[in-house]
Amino acid sequence: MFEVNDPEFGWFLQQVKKHLNLDLTGYKQHRVHRRVNMLLRRHNVESYKEYLKMILEDPKSRDEFLDKMTINVTEFFRNPEKWEELAGYISDLIKDSGRFRAWSAGCSTGEEPYTIAIMLEELRAPSGATVLATDLDPWVLEKAKRGVYEERSLVNLDETMRMKYFAHSEDGTYEIKPFVKSRVTFKRHDLILDPYEKGFKLIVCRNVVIYFDEPTKKKIYEKFAEALDTGGYLFVGSTERIFNYRDLEFEMVSPFIYRKRR
Ligand SMILES: C[S@@+](CC[C@H](N)C(=O)[O-])C[C@H]1O[C@@H](n2cnc3c(N)ncnc32)[C@H](O)[C@@H]1O
Repeated sequence: MFEVNDPEFGWFLQQVKKHLNLDLTGYKQHRVHRRVNMLLRRHNVESYKEYLKMILEDPKSRDEFLDKMTINVTEFFRNPEKWEELAGYISDLIKDSGRFRAWSAGCSTGEEPYTIAIMLEELRAPSGATVLATDLDPWVLEKAKRGVYEERSLVNLDETMRMKYFAHSEDGTYEIKPFVKSRVTFKRHDLILDPYEKGFKLIVCRNVVIYFDEPTKKKIYEKFAEALDTGGYLFVGSTERIFNYRDLEFEMVSPFIYRKRR
């Protein structure tokens, strides 16, 4: 039961794809396996079949399962110094081009796309500059659309920024202001299964592909390269590298920022 090549585990992944529309086959299998088995142990469940029944029948268990598989940890301006660097490049793009469209791919609960929207505000981008924000997980998208956050999500924002872009409630939460919200559109999208839109000047995909195996990662970067306009930027996570960036017609402007050459 606890072997990664166990046919019962393969069957479980197929059922998850069929019933929950979540394809875990492109994810690092040892990680998926370890996490599923941890959940089996936690619930004292003896087989994948029994656990499947549980997540299909009990919404709370299903949420827990999806949460553990996809990891939604995020915050505003995650790695602030890198966002500052990115803003330097984007400011030129906003001046140069008419319509600026960004994509936050794997946006989780919305901190990342709202960070892009705040960056656009700080750069005085025209209101036509917008952000598409997508994630696989409909539950995080619901929270993202509400735009209400606990203080811990805002650790990288000083008082001035908080006042400018959030409404602080008596219950201690912070709600993103409507003029920031209106730049962002949320949509469910699976980076492995769904087709990609095109015409972006910026794609931000951070701390998402780390869960995928190498061939899946490679395919995703190829599709990002096609989705970007010439001169557009791809911003990846702090521990991520695109080794074959030259093959994809990218130049590396910093270890985490790549520019599409043509
Ligand atoms: C750790 S969060 C990263 C959030 C944000 N990008 C950041 O860096 O702060 C990873 C997100 O990727 C999403 N995700 C996982 N697999 C995905 C897939 N196949 N397609 C789209 N999103 C996916 C998860 O639902 C989760 O919200």
